[in-house]
Amino acid sequence: MKITLSVIKADIGSIGGHIKPSEALLEEVERPIKTALRNGKIIDYRITYTGDDIALLMTHTKGEVSEVIHQLAWNTFIRGTKVAKQQGLYGAGQDLLKDSFSGNIRGLGPAIAEMEFMERENEPFMVFAADKTSPGAYNLPMYLAFCDPMNTPGLLLSTKMGKGYKFTILDVSETGHDRIVELNSPEDIYELAALLRDNDKFCIEAVHSRVSGDVAMVQSTTRLRNIAGKYVGKDDPVAICRVQKDFPATGEFLAPYAIGHYVAGGMRGSHVCPLMPVKQNTGVSYFDGPPVVSCAAYSVHGGKLTEAADVFDQPFWDEIRSQVSRKAVEIRRQGFSDPAMLPYDELEYGGIKEVIEKIDKKFKKRK
Ligand code: F6R
Ligand code: MG
Ligand code: MG
Repeated sequence: MKITLSVIKADIGSIGGHIKPSEALLEEVERPIKTALRNGKIIDYRITYTGDDIALLMTHTKGEVSEVIHQLAWNTFIRGTKVAKQQGLYGAGQDLLKDSFSGNIRGLGPAIAEMEFMERENEPFMVFAADKTSPGAYNLPMYLAFCDPMNTPGLLLSTKMGKGYKFTILDVSETGHDRIVELNSPEDIYELAALLRDNDKFCIEAVHSRVSGDVAMVQSTTRLRNIAGKYVGKDDPVAICRVQKDFPATGEFLAPYAIGHYVAGGMRGSHVCPLMPVKQNTGVSYFDGPPVVSCAAYSVHGGKLTEAADVFDQPFWDEIRSQVSRKAVEIRRQGFSDPAMLPYDELEYGGIKEVIEKIDKKFKKRK
């Protein structure tokens, strides 16, 4: 059976700052989705949160960019925003950047990752959701999972995986139109690394198997700044990965998160902090962070989902979380000094620009 997985995520309000959504908000968001299930618009759904972002995972047969599904998600977030406002939640409706829906939720603010495929006999997949960071946060882990045999022995052990993957890379600094390039592993991995080292400019939109042409991974590439014309919050990306057989194994996708690599995010969306793998439905705390990533693994059959296996809810990750906490405290010790604070153009606040412009006039040329 051909099914579509749609993950649509938005920050529409949060308790006590940018921490986590309220119970009332989560309940309100579930109502229209439950009705859609009853009416047969969707086959199944799961609603989770990561930090202050609510992610809707829906399965259906309407294909990618379905107006029905996008409208459902948009209406749901609008409805939730009303409750967020009634409760005085911080940043109510933060990610809903446009007033009206016109057929497609892309470009309106919420992050979206969708894939349509023919279900395999056994169809395991995972949904990653990150908060207080940007789409480039997945650059390193996905590169390692798909390209590096030190991380992914499947690249050596499976001749099908060894044929490599096709990467679609998006230049997220471009506005007005999509600027993309396609590169193939293994022959293009140096070019790939040259692009993916720049988390603010390039990110992976999709990865396909070169053996079957099947989609392996998709991620949201929403840049709120490009939509709003100014910084309005971190983009907090979601990703869907199909796992096992021709694709990296569950554990090969997860292993890179043991690095706790530094990403853009944390306090006021303007710092560099390590990415902490967390359990589902975890808020943020230290320094409005650290940036967090959750991951739910599912199996799906005929569009029906199993319960989630919360893969970072396992003793191994407790030790990693301690290491990431130490890394976070360590980089915070140097406060605003490079590279602890993000470069000028990536700051979420305009204050520094104003200060520099003011001082700029005082600079004199010395002969
Ligand atoms: C992401 C997020 C942050 C905030 C940032 C600035 O979920 O909420 O990126 O946008 O922390 O928020 P303010 O200006 O409200 O402190
Ligand atoms: Mg927020
Ligand atoms: Mg968020």
